[in-house]
Amino acid sequence: MRTCIIGAGYVGTVTGACLAKLGNRVIFVDNDGEKLELIRERRSPICEPGLDEIMRNIEVEATADLNYGVRNSEITFVCVATPTSGALGNSDPRLVKRVCQEIGKSLNRYHLVVIKSTVTPGTTGRDVIPLLEKDGKRLGQDFGVCVNPEFLREGFAVHDFMNPDRIIIGEADERSGQILEKLYESFASPILRVNLKTAEMIKIASNAFLSTKISFINEIGNICKNLGIDVYEVVKGMAYDERIGDKFLNAGVGFGGSCLPKDLQALIAMSGRETGYNPKILREVLNLNQQQPLKIIELLKRHIPHLANMAIGILGLAFKPGTDDVRASSATTVIEQLLGEGAQVKAYDPKAIPNFKAIFPQIEYVEPDEVLKCDAILILTDWEEFATLDYKGKIVIDGRRVLKAEEARIYEGICW
Ligand code: UGA
Repeated sequence: MRTCIIGAGYVGTVTGACLAKLGNRVIFVDNDGEKLELIRERRSPICEPGLDEIMRNIEVEATADLNYGVRNSEITFVCVATPTSGALGNSDPRLVKRVCQEIGKSLNRYHLVVIKSTVTPGTTGRDVIPLLEKDGKRLGQDFGVCVNPEFLREGFAVHDFMNPDRIIIGEADERSGQILEKLYESFASPILRVNLKTAEMIKIASNAFLSTKISFINEIGNICKNLGIDVYEVVKGMAYDERIGDKFLNAGVGFGGSCLPKDLQALIAMSGRETGYNPKILREVLNLNQQQPLKIIELLKRHIPHLANMAIGILGLAFKPGTDDVRASSATTVIEQLLGEGAQVKAYDPKAIPNFKAIFPQIEYVEPDEVLKCDAILILTDWEEFATLDYKGKIVIDGRRVLKAEEARIYEGICW
């Protein structure tokens, strides 16, 4: 099929590249000239394993001209950002809306518009469709609309796109859903067709559930720590119950990244604002996650009560291993607190130093051997290479279960 991808960011690039690899024609539309240039040179504009190789082997177009992209394709995927706005954590759909208004103007024959950006339930029906219709076009007659959320993990996005657990198609009408189902016909995974707002909710509820699992096990882990129990042993025992399983139950220093915290906040804010319902569990999941990084400092203080002028080494700045992404990383909360208490912070991360430096220029960035010379070491990301360091004789507080560090003179796991 002929497809147009609006937004060559994380989701857009992976979606476009994979669709092209599957034999579809793809036009990328973006207003960032550098990204377009990279795509034209058959290079990926984002860093994601496997993507460069796919880009090298496909032929796609890249343009800043949305009108061209829409008019030369049958399906347009809207993959632009929906950032958090304001203190309440509302999801900001302005970019999606702006793009859809432009799409509406460009429509000249039947076209399917697919919202891939994560939006809160109700957004597509209430805000997007009227904008597509603004120029006199009619849903059902001139265009169709689907919501097709993505479930891509950073670092595994190509794999997750090609091997989805499920494909969710929210459809404005039967015809829209049928067209999108056809695009995915070569996939072996289950396809669930629902209405637009149900699809929007499936995405945001899935991320809220994953967040809840992590905060749940962190809470159990905090209790375990007080009782001298290893929460990982507890999970092993729980996991034999198939209703529980062992996935996403790694206790630690909390969840970060560009999705879980943002989507959770958006759901909480939207629920209160639009339905008057106060989601108590979800609020606590978020609260717990904001507090969890500080636990590691509490544990550190058992060994070094006064942090002023003490050298504290940080291993790991990325929100998870395998990425240079530091958005909502637990390291941010930990380092802010350490600096507030007058500690000297020396940090190392295999990939994320440039991104972290942009937000914390005032700390020292060093190699691992310098981190190991500090008065104490905090492990905040479970990079594999941290399991090869020599921790003997050190004080280590571990937020990610790097068991090699148990050899330290003093070792504390955050929840074990
Ligand atoms: C997450 C979801 O896992 C994807 O399914 C979803 O599609 C994506 O958000 C999105 O909405 O686009 P991602 O942000 O790449 O993917 O990160 P995860 O691998 O889910 O990790 C999130 C955070 O949770 C990390 O900070 C990680 O360290 C933490 N985590 C994860 C734990 O603390 N414990 C666990 O057991 C698992």
